[in-house]
Amino acid sequence: MPLFFINQDITKMHVDIVVNAAKNSLLGGGGVDGAIHAAAGPKLLEECRTLGGCETGAAKLTGGYNMPCKYIIHTVGPVYRDGRHGEPELLRSCYKESLKLALETDCESIAFPAISTGVYGYPKEEAKLIAVAAVKEFLAEHDMTVYLVFFDMPAGDAELARYLMYHRSSGAKIEARESCELEDTAENAEAACNLADTAEYAVEAMPQSPVPNSPKPQVAEPRVLFGKRKEKACAQMSEAAAEATYQNSSAGFTLQEKAPDFRSMLDESFSEMLLRKIDESGMSDSDCYKRANIDRKLFSKIRADRLYKPSKPTAIAFALALRLSEGETEELLGKAGFALSGSSLFDVIIRFYIERGVYDVLKINEELFRYDQTLLGA
Ligand code: APR
Repeated sequence: MPLFFINQDITKMHVDIVVNAAKNSLLGGGGVDGAIHAAAGPKLLEECRTLGGCETGAAKLTGGYNMPCKYIIHTVGPVYRDGRHGEPELLRSCYKESLKLALETDCESIAFPAISTGVYGYPKEEAKLIAVAAVKEFLAEHDMTVYLVFFDMPAGDAELARYLMYHRSSGAKIEARESCELEDTAENAEAACNLADTAEYAVEAMPQSPVPNSPKPQVAEPRVLFGKRKEKACAQMSEAAAEATYQNSSAGFTLQEKAPDFRSMLDESFSEMLLRKIDESGMSDSDCYKRANIDRKLFSKIRADRLYKPSKPTAIAFALALRLSEGETEELLGKAGFALSGSSLFDVIIRFYIERGVYDVLKINEELFRYDQTLLGA
């Protein structure tokens, strides 16, 4: 289900399938093609010889041999000319055909290199957008963990980079309202990226952001449920109530008179607030967990256990998927025992985007990835 960006040698990734950016002959070459053939060993070339080549935009499957993957899918990207000779469609086809082929295997994870962005000269940012769009379209219908491997990430969010660099130099507390007047240049972004490794010290220089008011204790009214969950809960409760009334009627009291309403003793839990917010938003469960870059299995665990304790990135991913305000995000995090802090670069980046109304988990992951932070989703 989730899509991750990663900066790693693809030949060392422990995934089910590694995709190779090959040439039409499939007989090996330089770049990632050369690296994969070198890592897989000579048997890969032997099998490739039997495939009769591969059309641009098409994909073919072989074994993984000495690589730590089960299979290798070889696809041939377009040579970039000017973007007006069918290159975008052919590049998109590389991802779609490879994913289609992956579905025919029993695999759950796949890693793509940045196809055509090396020898074939495709502009990295344009190629990344095509890759992300093709993968997101696939993941809307299918469950698979997809890694997009970038050996050298294109320039990132210059505003975020300036923001972090400006506050690092001034040591000022990060305030959403401030904006820096620095020239919006790639060098600044680049400089900020280089500073990223010291940004931790910078954010530590800032006073801790006030810990938000802890959520008010729940008043003793029963939780309000919405929609289908409400009917289901009422049905369950009435059965339980009927059973309890029957069991206790011999003791001379009814459920309403003596048995405490356990719900009034507990605050709304993380998963209860999450489900309530999903109902209030009108989203379906799957819309929400897909937007959060969370797989179905994890969501099912959270839904089944009202006391489930998520990780902080998971809790934040759901807050972003629900487009919660900063206050609501703090409340949801608080339910899981977390808070956004001014002394964590990860938190500072999350708060930066929430305050600007940017909730796209994949976009935020790109910046988290750039600053070597934990990614959102699971
Ligand atoms: N792991 C991950 N990514 C890598 C690796 C690696 N070990 N090696 C290179 N890359 C990245 C490059 O940085 C580039 O961003 O893979 C991307 C694709 O670059 P190329 O390998 O040059 O592939 P491409 O642009 O599609 O050109 C294919 O080049 O090597 C020849 O035989 C190949 O003719 C084919 C052509």
